[in-house]
Amino acid sequence: MNNLDTLIENGLVVTENETGHFNIGIKDGKIAYLGDENLNAEFKINASDLIVLPGGIDPHVHVDQPSGDDVIMADNFQSATKSAAAGGNTTILPFAMQIKGQSLRKCVEDYHKKAQGNMYIDTSFHLIISDPTPQVLGQELPALSKDGYTSFKVFMTYDDLVLNDKELIEVFDVAKQLKTLVMVHAEGYDSIKYLSDKFEKEGKTAPYYHAPTRPQIVEREATHRAISHAQIVDIPLMIVHVSGEEALNQIRWAKDKGIKVFSETCPQYICLTEDDLKGLNMDFEGAKYVCSPPPRDKNSQEAIWSGLIDGTFEIFSSDHCPFRFKDKQGKDRPGARTSFKWVPNGIPGVETRMPILFSEGVSKNKIDLKRFVELTSTNPAKMYGMYPQKGVIKVGSDADLTFWDPNLKKKISQNDLHHGSDYTPYEGLEITGWPVQTWLRGNKIFDNGEFTTANNLGKYMSRDFSSF
Ligand code: URP
Ligand code: ZN
Ligand code: ZN
Repeated sequence: MNNLDTLIENGLVVTENETGHFNIGIKDGKIAYLGDENLNAEFKINASDLIVLPGGIDPHVHVDQPSGDDVIMADNFQSATKSAAAGGNTTILPFAMQIKGQSLRKCVEDYHKKAQGNMYIDTSFHLIISDPTPQVLGQELPALSKDGYTSFKVFMTYDDLVLNDKELIEVFDVAKQLKTLVMVHAEGYDSIKYLSDKFEKEGKTAPYYHAPTRPQIVEREATHRAISHAQIVDIPLMIVHVSGEEALNQIRWAKDKGIKVFSETCPQYICLTEDDLKGLNMDFEGAKYVCSPPPRDKNSQEAIWSGLIDGTFEIFSSDHCPFRFKDKQGKDRPGARTSFKWVPNGIPGVETRMPILFSEGVSKNKIDLKRFVELTSTNPAKMYGMYPQKGVIKVGSDADLTFWDPNLKKKISQNDLHHGSDYTPYEGLEITGWPVQTWLRGNKIFDNGEFTTANNLGKYMSRDFSSF
């Protein structure tokens, strides 16, 4: 073998088939060697006290999405990918969100303009379909799927995004023909509307009331409805950001029946509860935790853990959707203090996703390293058509690597994070096990708090179809 560019020696490595101490050789940005030989290389790195894992893939993040007239998302592509890299990620999948009336192609071009030259790590877009016109379904989606946009999200709630049942079924039908994967935001629009109006009339308007107006039953009903529609059309379905036991039980029920339903959950559903939305004393501080679906209770957290442990969930994503808290163009937008209805939905989390799962899962012996890697990297790569280029340490794969120090203990602190938000919902959470280096295609981009490359090394990836 020609001289390697880099040999990473003696790390504890999770490969496709086993966990053990291996040397990883890198040549031209790819993994060129995996084994125990001490080969020649220009650079040798001793990783003997570290764990070396495939770089994280966060397949559910929102970046620079238009969020209404007076609201600005806290991250652009530069800050989001920087924050992601510091959290051990080498790829993110943000959404290109269609605004009603807009051509999908135009929408995708807009996001490329925002991302181009501004990415620390690799990036690929899912689409959000908010306006399934005949032109969109008949021409734009087929053309875009050929160009590698092989997954899209639809919503069962939100005024500007909701699709009715017939529209959902029509979109599912197109996905079947194109073999693209549909992701569903499963919360029932009408029941939320009914409950929100009722709570407002009763004067219950604090941010906290975002949670009881979107109770688990609303998510459970929509999850079952989405699964039923998918069953009618006969397509696989991805239920995103599953928050609670009731929706999880619908997914288990479907899986038991042999229906192809996949699902993801997120840090907020194992670390937060709806009590966090109460703030200090039912005050506006609760807006920091307003996201949809909302966090639930301790029992639900346990249920979500059971799904992470037993394999029900394929993916652990962040649903990073950052707004600034002390900002009239963020959580504190006009009207937000008069009703929970006007508080922007979403919380930041791309940088803390993997440390939280490592600490709460691996360090506390709930899941092993192999499962951690599946949930945070390999399964996202397979689910969204990037495997084996991404998501695995294997000869021929991109040398996307994260070095973890399993013994490093540090509390999550806004001061240490790189996102554009001015708070983290996980402030003060003690973490055991942090990513200390992130490597993108053989380049060390993040090293113990410092960024060691330019901000434009990330590339856009067009994707294959799901191989799940
Ligand atoms: O509250 C959330 N999760 N906002 C982000 C948009 C979405 O539904 O994923
Ligand atoms: Zn959603
Ligand atoms: Zn989301």
